[in-house]
Amino acid sequence: MSTETPRTLTEDGVEARLSELLGQERFTPPAPFAAQAEITDPELRARAAADPVAYWEEQARQLRWSQEWTTALNEDDAPFYRWFEGGRINVSDNCLDRHVEAGRGDRVAYHWHGEEGETRDVTYAELLDQTARFAGALRQLGVQQGDVVGIYLPMIPEVVVAMLACTRIGAVHNVVFGGFSAGSVAERMEVSGAKVLVTADGSRRKGKTTAVKPEVDRTMGQLDGLEKIVVVRHAGLDDTPMTDGRDVFFDEVVAAAEPVDPEPLDAEAPMFILYSSGSTAKPKGIQHTTGGYLTGVTTTLRQVFDLQDDDVYWCSADVGWITGHSYIVYGPLANGVTSVMYEGAPDYPHQGIWWELIAKRGVTKFYTAPTAIRAAMKWGVEHVAPHDLSSLKLLGSVGEPINPKAWLWYWHVVGGERCPVVDTWWQTETGAMMITTLPGVDDAKPGSAGTPLPGIDVQVLDAETGERVTEGEGLLAIPRPWPSMLRTLYQDPDRYVSTYWSRFGETTYFVGDSARIDADGYIWVIGRVDDVINVSGHRLSTAEVESAIVAHPHVAEAAVVAKADDLTGQAIVAYVTLNGDTEGSDRIEAEVNQHIADRIGKLARPKRIVWTSDLPKTRSGKIMRRLLRDIAEERDLGDVTTLADPSVVTTLQDRWGAGA
Ligand code: PRX
Repeated sequence: MSTETPRTLTEDGVEARLSELLGQERFTPPAPFAAQAEITDPELRARAAADPVAYWEEQARQLRWSQEWTTALNEDDAPFYRWFEGGRINVSDNCLDRHVEAGRGDRVAYHWHGEEGETRDVTYAELLDQTARFAGALRQLGVQQGDVVGIYLPMIPEVVVAMLACTRIGAVHNVVFGGFSAGSVAERMEVSGAKVLVTADGSRRKGKTTAVKPEVDRTMGQLDGLEKIVVVRHAGLDDTPMTDGRDVFFDEVVAAAEPVDPEPLDAEAPMFILYSSGSTAKPKGIQHTTGGYLTGVTTTLRQVFDLQDDDVYWCSADVGWITGHSYIVYGPLANGVTSVMYEGAPDYPHQGIWWELIAKRGVTKFYTAPTAIRAAMKWGVEHVAPHDLSSLKLLGSVGEPINPKAWLWYWHVVGGERCPVVDTWWQTETGAMMITTLPGVDDAKPGSAGTPLPGIDVQVLDAETGERVTEGEGLLAIPRPWPSMLRTLYQDPDRYVSTYWSRFGETTYFVGDSARIDADGYIWVIGRVDDVINVSGHRLSTAEVESAIVAHPHVAEAAVVAKADDLTGQAIVAYVTLNGDTEGSDRIEAEVNQHIADRIGKLARPKRIVWTSDLPKTRSGKIMRRLLRDIAEERDLGDVTTLADPSVVTTLQDRWGAGA
């Protein structure tokens, strides 16, 4: 059956239409969409705001609890908040057993598409069977409630099984993005004290297969606490090294294990840790707990993606990021949705693969990142035009500010001007979406995420005074706890308090983003105010990249800054001073890049390295990163007299210009 219907989309036609639309400030929900939307009540926000805790209790009741809570929100220990205290619940029970018991076991949970065109449908009943068995296997491997299980897997159904199996027995998962190097996985396993790691024989990317297990062995062999490594046979590699007594194959332990029942867990039982970049080189172990997190992701996905029974939903993120946790795994499964899961890259085997899959599967709701939309714009509408995208009903964006042109392209080219576009602002720390438009109710303004969701309060505060700004620019802050919020930083409560709860006091969460709020209360996120770089929606820390660079034996000093980039939002620029008389060369550049790839991952390699004999420093020796950003973005530098040696910046400007 051919699903391809030609559309009359041409580059010129699209360009002309986008120019017309650029002047349009608001996009009201398309009438046919609004008519069928789940949420049509414009008063929902106001009702929730009248009693947010009661509102969240109402949402939590839509899940299956084995014991109801006694206290909905305990603020005694702020900012260590406790939600649904006394309640008992199991995440995998809500994501799987509940649906199977309701007779929906045959429903497809994931239409999985492999890179080489393979497909695999996994039903809810199959997912339950695998999960219950793998949970049994984990127990046999010695995993107990509260133990940490590392997961380092490609985008395959087994990653979902592994995560859910942890939640079934109360183990705490620590998923590491497959694009990070084995070295950074080792670091995360070590600091989290992981007992078991679930990984794969190898991974596939754009037609190339890379052996993963030998790398894991190389970097993780010495970790004392790591007792077992479970290996998923995915890439068809038959010479996978296995250590007797430590390593087991996933399929074998699943086949041998008895399925186990879901364990009723305390609502505040730790559910997972996800390491994310902050202002220092040490990643933060963001810790989420069970009942509140599940309530947050389940509610927000249902409301914002206007879930309907016949939806085919696709979130193109990777499961190794929070978007994957919340909106590939837990939100969709708790809502009983059918999803598409794609192993590959957006341009493999060709640049139209996403649109081909949308047409093939009849995807109704699609969630992606601005950087992917900008890449698709660059590749051209000819890759979209051949595919029938008429099944789409709603489009979502996440991860970074979406520029109006990309928003309009998404709306016009992908959504055919029928589908609301929801720009969702949130963070690893918030667990679930926080600011966006309710698609059947609110007008969208391209470039603005919208307003806080029902039951959520996000404000813009003046950077100096901390006073609330009702119209204008300031810092984002959250003055009230919400169920899916992080509870602490793993084994580092002091850093939790100092990072998030000191700038505006102990009860107002400091976001780390600057934003503008307009007269309608719409929030326009500007970007990070700390040293976090957002490359293609991937969060990296300047300090982490710098520390990887200076670990290279020829490097004396390095400063890393972000530069605006048309495609990736931000790009990394590194200014590097080499030791002694080592000269910057292509060879050293390749070595430094390889070094970063080994320590963090390829995604952290700078777009440009500038060699310099010195960095701009104040007289007290502090590197002035602001000037380095100005140089990379070719701005006027203004007054540089506070520098110890002002001539450094002139040299750097010349060098930047020469290499541009
Ligand atoms: O700066 C904001 C940006 O991404 C940061 C959070 O990154 P991370 O924890 O990796 O989570 C990304 C996926 C939820 C935020 O502090 N950000 C995220 N979504 C948006 C955004 N900036 C603007 N608009 C968004 N929709």
